[in-house]
Amino acid sequence: MKKIVILQGSPRKNGNTDLLCDEFIRGARENGHEVEKIYLKDKNIHPCVACDYCRSHEGNCVFKEKDDFEEMIQKVIAADVLVISSPVYFYSLTAQMKTAIDRFYAREQEVKNKAAYFITASAAPTEEYIQTAIAGFRGFISCFENVNEAGIIAGCGAAEKGDVTEMTAFKKAFEMGKTLN
Ligand SMILES: Cc1cc2nc3c(=O)[nH]c(=O)nc-3n(C[C@H](O)[C@H](O)[C@H](O)COP(=O)(O)O)c2cc1C
Repeated sequence: MKKIVILQGSPRKNGNTDLLCDEFIRGARENGHEVEKIYLKDKNIHPCVACDYCRSHEGNCVFKEKDDFEEMIQKVIAADVLVISSPVYFYSLTAQMKTAIDRFYAREQEVKNKAAYFITASAAPTEEYIQTAIAGFRGFISCFENVNEAGIIAGCGAAEKGDVTEMTAFKKAFEMGKTLN
């Protein structure tokens, strides 16, 4: 049994990435894994202010007692599998996701030994158009010790909520959840 944490960076509940997450979860639960999906849109996470307080205070952020990041990062640290879910916004990730990512600055040493997945969706029709967003995911996970890419699920050509249900990415999400080991 693996512990899976999904950071869901879309502001749209039941949108395309959210539906892909739910298929991934359905597959993973069928296989006996434990999954938690965290909606970043519902969390109060202050952007990193680059004060470097964490560098001289054992990774404690100035916002540690003031917002929801600490609770979230504890779950990420404890997880075997980390799923980054964000639609493509201006060739990149959403503000909600990027804000959370920047706060990992204080905790880079503690995030290690995980499989990492990227779940995304875009209005653009093919993966060719979303390489910059994929590079954002890859750059992020490259910062941590033994955090390795395990899969990418991309619903390209999805603009309206629900478009993704007709796509092969929808089946792929279930299969990747189910075959996760
Ligand atoms: C602010 C904003 C920026 C977007 N930028 C892009 C983009 O650069 N490329 C693209 O293909 N789609 C872009 N889209 C479309 C979304 O990626 C697409 O609608 C996706 O299915 C949304 O996923 P969600 O339903 O999980 O939120 C953008 C949408 C918004 C609201």
